[in-house]
Amino acid sequence: MTPDLDKSLIETAYARWAPIYDAVCGPVMVKGRRAAAAEARAHGGKILEVGVGTGLSFDDYDATTEITGIDLCEPMLEKAHAKMATGRYPWVKDVRQMDAHAMEFADATFDCVVAQFVITLVANPEQVLSECHRVVKPGGRIILVNHLYSEVGVAAAVERWAAQKTRALGLRPEFPFARLQAWAQATSDAILVERRKLKPFGIYTLVCFERTPTPMAA
Ligand SMILES: C[S@@+](CC[C@H](N)C(=O)[O-])C[C@H]1O[C@@H](n2cnc3c(N)ncnc32)[C@H](O)[C@@H]1O
Repeated sequence: MTPDLDKSLIETAYARWAPIYDAVCGPVMVKGRRAAAAEARAHGGKILEVGVGTGLSFDDYDATTEITGIDLCEPMLEKAHAKMATGRYPWVKDVRQMDAHAMEFADATFDCVVAQFVITLVANPEQVLSECHRVVKPGGRIILVNHLYSEVGVAAAVERWAAQKTRALGLRPEFPFARLQAWAQATSDAILVERRKLKPFGIYTLVCFERTPTPMAA
């Protein structure tokens, strides 16, 4: 398993991605992005998008929601701010630079926290999950979508090989689901409520955690 990516690598990589991100990653990741946003919309209310990037997901929400977005990388955020400035996304309330490892929001601020193609890239995924968990309300959801490690066979071998080659690009194709599951098992009031491979090819997996209304017995 390759080590977690570090923050400066991510900032540099996504500053390079920013000018071409929508054209390259828009179509490739659209199914995953839409599935995560649909899940969040079904839950509704105040939604935090962690690693909001250029704001490609703004189209996937509507006026039944109130979106706040954070991201580490200023050039990505500039693109998101440009989308907001068109006036087409009145449901997007605030988008700002913030590290997901140490969010400035009060406990239990949001009904849902969404992270699309982010959790495998952050410097400390467990810390980011715990921050997401802290800022979501009891009864609320953390919704992740990502490509996760295939674990076995040719696909796993390709992902291990690609992990070395794509690291400098801020990509990480071999992050295991077991790590997300272990975080939930170690967190008293978090439960895994969904793990679903998305059509058409099952390349992306949607993972949902709920913050239980009251801490569960150990
Ligand atoms: C692959 S992009 C996904 C962007 C967007 N969610 C989407 O689906 O198009 C990953 C984003 O996560 C952001 N990111 C990585 N680490 C972060 C952190 N610690 N805090 C906030 N954002 C972070 C990157 O800057 C980048 O914009």
